[in-house]
Amino acid sequence: MSTSRVVQLSDPHFGIAHPQHDHNWDIIIDWLDEAQPELVVVSGDVLYSDPMDAADLGHARRQLDRIPCRWVIIPGNHDIGDCPSHPDAGKRVTAEWLGGWMDAFGADRFTHSFPGWTVLGINAQTLLSPELGDEQWQWLKAELATMPPEHALALFCHRPPFRELPNETEANQDALHPLIRDRLSACVAPHRLRLFASGHKHQYRAFGLGETMHVWAPSVSCVNKHPHVETWGIRTVGFVEYRLSQDGRVRHRLLGSDMLLRNENYLHTAR
Ligand SMILES: [Fe+2]
Ligand SMILES: [Fe+2]
Repeated sequence: MSTSRVVQLSDPHFGIAHPQHDHNWDIIIDWLDEAQPELVVVSGDVLYSDPMDAADLGHARRQLDRIPCRWVIIPGNHDIGDCPSHPDAGKRVTAEWLGGWMDAFGADRFTHSFPGWTVLGINAQTLLSPELGDEQWQWLKAELATMPPEHALALFCHRPPFRELPNETEANQDALHPLIRDRLSACVAPHRLRLFASGHKHQYRAFGLGETMHVWAPSVSCVNKHPHVETWGIRTVGFVEYRLSQDGRVRHRLLGSDMLLRNENYLHTAR
């Protein structure tokens, strides 16, 4: 039976002034060179912090161009700004930032097919914005309508669908806004959603809920906040390999935490 291998690299947060993040990338590029997976998904936050930093944008693009196999990308909040209605959101997503990011990296979403699988990547940052998000909802509807009915579905999205509970009603900085989560759930409900893969949290967490495996990929570069902060996942760095079997089974494993530097963001923000 055919098995396809997909590797998720999340939250590299490249910055000219933060060469400590390039160290881990060098190691991952060497690993990919040998492993040669069918697809690499870069799940957002490729920029250190600021969507307007042209030097960081160029540096990130050069680093992504080193990936020695086919790769696709979706943006994160540090790339194009944040979802407009998160109460504690940082810089709000704008058409200008989205346009600049797409000039550098191409499309903000993707569809990929493997034997038995349809893999979709979505831009989580614009889905609550009528002027920026409506067209993506239409695209998503069309992609789902045309996917082979026997296929299992894997969804890649910068944010996880929820932080604590799948029906939590308060918006928080960690997960999709509940309105997006519910609308997305309704869209994929007729399909066999077998994998929901996210980044953003800089933590590793994997669990099954119904027939869906949920994976929070950690950052390849750094962990966030102070070691004593409350977390739902494991505060580590690394990347995730998925094996998608033609019959709809998915296996995953966390890689890299034994060879990558666990850079601590708070050490830099404290300086
Ligand atoms: Fe991040
Ligand atoms: Fe993020």
